[in-house]
Amino acid sequence: MTDTVWAPDGSNLVVHADNAEYLPTLPDGAFTLIYVDPPFNTGRPQLRQETRMVANAGGSGDRVGFKGRSYDTIKGALHRYDDAFSDYWSFLEPRLVEAWRLLADDGTLYLHLDYREVHYAKVMLDAIFGRECFLNEIIWAYDYGARARNRWPTKHDNILVYVKNPAKYHFDNAEVDREPYMAPGLVTPAKRELGKLPTDVWWHTIVSPTGKEKTGYPTQKPEGLVRRVVAASSRPGDWCLDFFAGSGTLGAVAAKLGRKFVCVDQNQPAIDIMLKRLGAHATLASHQPN
Ligand SMILES: C[S@@+](CC[C@H](N)C(=O)[O-])C[C@H]1O[C@@H](n2cnc3c(N)ncnc32)[C@H](O)[C@@H]1O
Repeated sequence: MTDTVWAPDGSNLVVHADNAEYLPTLPDGAFTLIYVDPPFNTGRPQLRQETRMVANAGGSGDRVGFKGRSYDTIKGALHRYDDAFSDYWSFLEPRLVEAWRLLADDGTLYLHLDYREVHYAKVMLDAIFGRECFLNEIIWAYDYGARARNRWPTKHDNILVYVKNPAKYHFDNAEVDREPYMAPGLVTPAKRELGKLPTDVWWHTIVSPTGKEKTGYPTQKPEGLVRRVVAASSRPGDWCLDFFAGSGTLGAVAAKLGRKFVCVDQNQPAIDIMLKRLGAHATLASHQPN
């Protein structure tokens, strides 16, 4: 049962629901922008692939390595990892199919992931949207936390951007905040003053643990990041959707930029935080399966 129903001229909504149950209640093509930042796993333990290579003296290994040497691949806990992995994608895929249905003809999806998932997601989204609908992969680079010593420390997230219709999508980077030039001495004072248009690599700090943006929600993303997404890919008055909303960063930015929003989360602490953060701009709705 839905007790507060979305309507094109209705109010912004914070929805307490499993998105798989709620999204089918929304009409086709209702949203110009969908931004989602899903959790990695679905409640099952996240297991890591344990793969190591050993030299195969007899030359019958399943991989050929440097200078033709042959190796066996010892896969350790791979099958357990596979279980968790396929569970994750069977969780995400139907929700991404719904995202495609809910996008307007001029609409855009931003899917926020990390380096472990992004390549699989690219293949999946190419299948759902069509390769010609892939617009960008944005790299969000930050510099925070411990640094691994046994590899390059991973300090970025990946955001895949797909459009519903490559001939019609809305994109206006003139609306986005500009950046300082890396070599300001090489450009004219006028250009220096204006700043440069952002590329697909965005340097931005994480939400400061002591800053006033912090809500206390563990996976909260910075408003500065989401502001670029909303400013470039929607217009004032357009509807924006986040169905893994967490602390409601998408809603907070949408409200500040004059967009309408629906923020969905199934977790009560997320709803409590969103009501505190967005309560003045939104109505609380809930959706229980019939
Ligand atoms: C990584 S967090 C999103 C953080 C958010 N971008 C922010 O800035 O705060 C992912 C969220 O998805 C929610 N979630 C996970 N599965 C869900 C489901 N089936 N339906 C609705 N929300 C779900 C979790 O409760 C969590 O709050």
